[in-house]
Parts: sequence; structure tokens; C-alpha cells
Amino acid sequence: MINLLAQRASALHLGLANYCWLLDLDKALCLKLANANATDRSRPLAGMCDSARCPQATHHLCHRPVWADSAAHTCDIEMPVLGRTCNFTGMAREEVMQDGAHRQVVRIGDTVRRPAQPWTPTVHALLQHLEEVGFRYAPRPLGFDDEGREVLTYIDGDAGPLAWEKVVSDDGLRAFARLLRDYHEACADFSPPSGATWSGGGADLGDEDVVCHGDFGPWNVVWQGDRPVGIIDWDFARPAPRLHDVAYALEYVAPFRDDAECLRWLHYPAPPDRRRRLELFCTVYEINSTEGIVDAVITRQRDNADLVRRLAEQGHEPQATWASNGLLSQLGDRITWSLTHRHLFE
Ligand SMILES: Nc1ncnc2c1ncn2[C@@H]1O[C@H](COP(=O)(O)OP(=O)(O)O)[C@@H](O)[C@H]1O
Ligand SMILES: [Mg+2]
Repeated sequence: MINLLAQRASALHLGLANYCWLLDLDKALCLKLANANATDRSRPLAGMCDSARCPQATHHLCHRPVWADSAAHTCDIEMPVLGRTCNFTGMAREEVMQDGAHRQVVRIGDTVRRPAQPWTPTVHALLQHLEEVGFRYAPRPLGFDDEGREVLTYIDGDAGPLAWEKVVSDDGLRAFARLLRDYHEACADFSPPSGATWSGGGADLGDEDVVCHGDFGPWNVVWQGDRPVGIIDWDFARPAPRLHDVAYALEYVAPFRDDAECLRWLHYPAPPDRRRRLELFCTVYEINSTEGIVDAVITRQRDNADLVRRLAEQGHEPQATWASNGLLSQLGDRITWSLTHRHLFE
């Protein structure tokens, strides 16, 4: 088992300790531990796992002790060393929060270190603006460390996979929509510095645009209890109409997913009333009419699939790995589902 993982390690998004990537689901310990229905092959997590987004993946850091314990007591396979990775830079303790092949996000004390990108200085200018206007829901930029990583303030709370269940209740959904609206208001006066570079390329700020977050899903919001306290992961920020963020968020929180996925992975106690949720989100965001919103979501789904395809073709990670593991066909299926189920939203 370990050899098999080691052979595939270079293609694994999360490194060795990630059984979801096994081709043979019967051997996927994480799915067994999650009591996943082994006969349902329709939506395995294989190939799709992204520990910062996936609502249920049991390979996430927080699940590793459970996993290791189970392996020690119930399995006759040898497990790699599991648990949070710690090493020392000087005297500072590094805690790995995301150990994807494409990047490592670590916490050191009250700071988070992330690999710097060409657009990071522009993103820092945005975060600086947010601090200046008193928007409390974004990390503050603290520059770069001696390894060239960006340094941000750490926001305490639950994010990533733990955040999905927070938007299931009406109150959580309201808070999520309000947070996006508040962010858009806070960034409305932001003037990007000259030579601004965004991840999607150098887009100018049009009259109707704000700098959208670009990846505003439940997994990129930090929650304390049922209260959102921060928005993280600003790499996809770029000038665009506000609807760019609204449509993206709605795909995940209306949600544009079938009942089985809602119940099995997204923590809904019963199939959601998607139309009502979409309306609630729009009301809180202060969008007067929901006309055209479903089309906007589908357009955003298409744009996103195109972006993933483009980045994968250019060899960017994690998109290249996602694509080789079938994500593009899954994205295509989701668009088809949205087209054939739009009556659930309108
Ligand atoms: N500023 C921050 N404060 C607290 N946690 C953070 C912060 N930035 C990142 N994290 C944690 O690290 C994880 C991965 O970081 P993120 O910036 O979302 O990168 P990725 O692109 O890999 O999703 C997040 O899910 C969250 O748990
Ligand atoms: Mg993220």
C-alpha cells in the first residue's frame, strides 16, 4: 500500500497520506472510515480531492489522528507517520495547514506563510486598503519572509472543509451573503497600484467593477462558531463585476448540486429548497431581482471550467493534476446538471 502511494506520490495533490487517490476504491481507507457506500461509484472523491475545499475528505489533517488510530487497531497495513507536520525554522514552530503538491501553507505563531506569486504585491495592496478602511474580515499583509513567502496574519477559527456546514442554516447563509456584500463595499474605493498584476492577468478596473475575491466559497471563509470572521485565500482576486463573486458563491451555497451530494457531503439534513436559498442570498446581498442569476451561475461555471482547462494545458498545478484525474469532465457534468435543473432555482 505504501509503495503504491509512494509511486503515485508525485501526482498526488496531498502527498503520501491520501488514500482518496487510489484507483481502487475498495482500498480507500478514508472512504471506509467515512462509511461511504462502496457500491456507489458515481461520485468517488478519487482525483477530485482538494483538502481546502472538500467537505468530507477524511484525509484532512484534522482527521489524521482518527485515521491513524483506526489503522493501528483495525488494519494490517503499515501507515506512514501521520499527524500534523512540524519542523523548526530557528525556534519558530511551523504547522502545515495545506500540504498540496502545488503549495504549502503553514502557520507560524500568529502568522500564515504562503508561496508568493507574481500578483502577491498587488493582493497585499488590496489587503492593506481593507485594513485602512477598517474591514476586519481579511488577513493583514505583513510582507515577505526570508524564504520569499508572503506573510499574513492568522485568523483563528474553522475554515476549509470545516466551513461547509456553516452555510447550511439560513443564518449561516445570511452571514455568508452579508460578508460578501460588506467586502464589496469595503473594496469599492480601492485603486490598484500602477502596474497591478492579478492572477487572471492584468485586467483594468471597469466602471462597474470591483476587485472580486475570485474564490468566494464556504471553504475560504473562517468561522468562529456560526459567525464568519475572515475571508482567506486571495490569489484569484481580480477586477470584475460583483456578479462574478455572487454567481460563484451561489453555485456552492444555493447549491447547484444534486440531492445526493447535498445529503452525503454537504451536511444538509434534507434536500435544500434551492430557490428559496438563492432568493435569501440575493435579498441579503441587496440584489433586487433574481432574474438572470441562474444564467450568471452557469456562465461562471463555464468560465471556471475554461480557466481550469487553460491553466492545466499550461502545466499549472493543481489544475494539471485535477485535469488528468478527470475534473474537467466532472465540471462538464455540473454544468449539464445546472442546465437541466434550472427549474429548481427559478
Ligand atoms: N490567514 C489565515 N488564517 C487562518 N487560516 C488560514 C489563513 N490562510 C490560510 N489558512 C488555512 O490554510 C488553509 C489553506 O490555505 P488557503 O490560503 O485557502 O490555500 P489554498 O489555495 O490551498 O486553498 C485554509 O483552508 C485555512 O485552513
Ligand atoms: Mg483556500
